[in-house]
Amino acid sequence: MRGASVVGLGYVGLTMAACLADRGIKTTAVDIDKEKLDMLRRGIVPFYEPHLQEMLAKGLAVKAMVVTDNLEEATRNSDVMFVTVGTPSNPDGSINLDQVKAASTGIGSTLKKTPGYHLVVIRSTVTPGTTEHLVKPLLESTSGKSCGSDFGLCVNPEFLAEGLAVHGTMNPDRIIIGECDKDAGDALGSFYASFHGQRMPSLLRTTPMNSELLKYANNAFLATKVSFINSLASLCEQIPGADVEVVAKGIGLDPRIGPLFLRAGLGWGGSCFPKDLRALVEFARAKGEGLPVIRSAYDVNEFQPLRAVRMAEHLIGSLRGKRVAVLGVSFKPETDDTREASGLVVIHGLLREGAEVTVYDPKAMQNARAVLGEKVRYARSALESIEGADCCIVATEWEEFRKLTAEDYAKRMRIPSVVDGRRIYDPNLFKSKVRFAAIGLA
Ligand code: UGA
Repeated sequence: MRGASVVGLGYVGLTMAACLADRGIKTTAVDIDKEKLDMLRRGIVPFYEPHLQEMLAKGLAVKAMVVTDNLEEATRNSDVMFVTVGTPSNPDGSINLDQVKAASTGIGSTLKKTPGYHLVVIRSTVTPGTTEHLVKPLLESTSGKSCGSDFGLCVNPEFLAEGLAVHGTMNPDRIIIGECDKDAGDALGSFYASFHGQRMPSLLRTTPMNSELLKYANNAFLATKVSFINSLASLCEQIPGADVEVVAKGIGLDPRIGPLFLRAGLGWGGSCFPKDLRALVEFARAKGEGLPVIRSAYDVNEFQPLRAVRMAEHLIGSLRGKRVAVLGVSFKPETDDTREASGLVVIHGLLREGAEVTVYDPKAMQNARAVLGEKVRYARSALESIEGADCCIVATEWEEFRKLTAEDYAKRMRIPSVVDGRRIYDPNLFKSKVRFAAIGLA
């Protein structure tokens, strides 16, 4: 085997490249962003993802991994090429396939110059039909070669969660192969069989269409599960004695439901759920299907972060001129990613109400500054952020915030009051020492 290449070095692509290199596969990692490539060549990962920095440094040091903008070199030095470019939203919510088109055209023209069979694997999240009706014709027209005989094409969705991307790449719970033809599926199946060895996960081989759709279904189901429990949380807030945590625990014991993704909070964010749900709804709308369940899950999520603002008002009255600390602006712990983070929605809601906002996040301060600029103050620690504050809203469940005690708040705040947007505190310990409100608790 010549090696593998990965095109598009976001968190999925870079993690995949580093993991392939770690398992001894010669890997060419390609991106068009020169600034990012410069950082990567120096061993610096441009975002925070646990373990990735060390793996990148190691891969480069032992020369298992090369970072380049040269697609031709990547095609020449590999027999399998994973496409992990971004698929952002258009303003109307539909999927923007510009990067997929550019990558397909680029790869096609390098396939033209490269002899031998090559396998192209679409790992970006793309709407059903994209691989067969867009990628395949572009690859064929730019390479002058035939899909199925001269090169193979598969869809292979990823299910990595940020913050756990390395573990998820090394130990996926399943592998989905959507094959344009059997030879391509066999080739990708053998690639993964040798990558995972004895620990080969369950494998599902199917059509590209099913693979593309099931990736959206997966994210939509998880997001719906969270919106479901958040709806119940809102109901619990109206019923003295009810607690959504207990409700979630109870229903999670039913094996048909399961305990995961039932943590009520300020809603889901990130680079995947919001964009994928929008793309799926838009895709379905064009086919004449409304997907009401998924649309409702989205709607519930739009308002969920603002519940924290209402809770703060309930605790301390009008927020005008009040100092509110927001803990957490990453969309979840163990990442510095602030894309569509609930904390940001909370902050904008507080600013609209005239509050003065102080922000702290263990990893996402730089990204927060890029979005919020001078609109808020930035603290250097959680304790500094609550010093003299009138209210504190926990928007992300970082471990560091769990360690704060009710006394920490009571001692430092002007009006000791806490809105627990992620259910990290024991209400019994907090209610006696500070004004306290929590999602899903009356
Ligand atoms: C998600 C999926 O979990 C991955 O399987 C998928 O591969 C990825 O999108 C993608 O499409 O690339 P990710 O966006 O990294 O991964 O984050 P999750 O861990 O799924 O969390 C998403 C959001 O849901 C976060 O804001 C999190 O705080 C929230 N969440 C999650 C809850 O509010 N409650 C829960 O119980 C679980």
